[in-house]
Amino acid sequence: MSSPSISVCGLGYVGLSTAVCFASRGFKVIGVDVDEQKVKLINSGQPLIYEPSLRELLAEPIEKGLLSCTLDYKHAISESRTTFITVGTPAGSDGSIDLRNVEDSSRQIGRALRDQREWHLVVVRSTVTPGTTSQLVKPIIETTSGKKCGVDWGLCMNPEFLREGSAVKDTFKPDRIVIGEHDRTSGDRLENLYRQFYGEQQPPILRMSPVNAEFVKYANNAFLAMKVSYINMIANLCQKISGADILQVAKAIGLDKRIGPLFLEAGLGYGGSCFPKDLKALLDFAKKKGIDAPLIESTIRINESQPLKALEMAEQILVDLEDKRIAVLGLAFKPNTDDLREAVSIRLINALLEKRAKVVAYDPIATDNARRILGDKVLFASSALDCIDGADSCIVVTEWDEFRKLRPEDFERMRNPVVIDGRRIFDPQEFKRVVRFEAIGLGATSMSPSE
Ligand code: UDX
Repeated sequence: MSSPSISVCGLGYVGLSTAVCFASRGFKVIGVDVDEQKVKLINSGQPLIYEPSLRELLAEPIEKGLLSCTLDYKHAISESRTTFITVGTPAGSDGSIDLRNVEDSSRQIGRALRDQREWHLVVVRSTVTPGTTSQLVKPIIETTSGKKCGVDWGLCMNPEFLREGSAVKDTFKPDRIVIGEHDRTSGDRLENLYRQFYGEQQPPILRMSPVNAEFVKYANNAFLAMKVSYINMIANLCQKISGADILQVAKAIGLDKRIGPLFLEAGLGYGGSCFPKDLKALLDFAKKKGIDAPLIESTIRINESQPLKALEMAEQILVDLEDKRIAVLGLAFKPNTDDLREAVSIRLINALLEKRAKVVAYDPIATDNARRILGDKVLFASSALDCIDGADSCIVVTEWDEFRKLRPEDFERMRNPVVIDGRRIFDPQEFKRVVRFEAIGLGATSMSPSE
């Protein structure tokens, strides 16, 4: 059977990863975006975002003509049988999500469907609050196309759970596929598409209503973010208990099968394009429904103050940060990405600058993006060693593998070797022998067993 053709509207990291992964398995894929420059660059094999193995995977389908990008919705729809909506849903000023991209995309799809004779499946993959697929996307497409959903065209909601930095891996090996179907035919069609895509390595497929699929995404992300804020709260407590260490506590908690070991890494908080935005959107959604959501509120509150823990630790040792040279290792919101959206580093650096500290920062790949945000308020070093050279304190903000290789002796080049490990990548015993060492979730002094 020949592979079906799909179109993907919105070529951000979700859309592009989806498009590239389908094309790499022989599907004919047409990507659509409103950004001409982006379309041109992708067509020339440049992915625009840093995502491991994306660039390599992109080259072959483009060469073979399996993947092409366009600004033209009509062309994309007429050349495909299934269309994924993967446009961004940024946060509005009140925390609610801004659905304008979804509306525009739906309108364009509807107009293109007006002249289509064949049945077409539309799949909402953007993160949208419960009700959006049925109450916004469906009526827009019905009005603009003049065609009835469930009869002339089908509709599904299919949330993605891709992590930046492993979007390709997550697309090929997801924990499950969630299909929210408007009607059975639409669900069957999408399930078949995924069966063809995954072949022997079929992940579990869960079928439900669109509203449940929409809610799964928010409930999922809120739970993960809550786990991170929970372990950060426990870490903050550990720091006040002589001899306590969050690594030991988290390891033991994580071995309880009811809790699980993942997302229990204490640090300076979560960032990125999803957790902060999704938690705020969920809170706003709950408020509009007249429901208190104190767990979500606390998750957000803990996360907002967490980056400042590093500043507090630096202040405790250096007393006054004015004119002190603070080295910040890592700017990206997490390793293996150049993304700085809601990055902890920006919040921390701005707070350090307010204290009139001199900040010098280094990141293996996110420096150009950081320069666009921070300008010349910060000095950018070209290596980790350059960054810490002559500094009064060094704060590890992102746990890049490159930093894990640094030895305690490397920090002797600092003017004042004070190392603050915000991501628990260094061995305290080893470091404490050579430098003044503080870390998230590490109690002040160790207690002997008899104490
Ligand atoms: C997340 C979800 O995991 C993904 O399913 C969803 O589709 C998009 O949002 P992403 O933002 O790419 O993915 O990153 P993720 O790996 O989940 O990490 C989010 C943030 O939490 C990062 O800032 C990370 O540093 C932080 N984190 C994660 C911790 O601080 N501790 C942990 O134990 C795990």
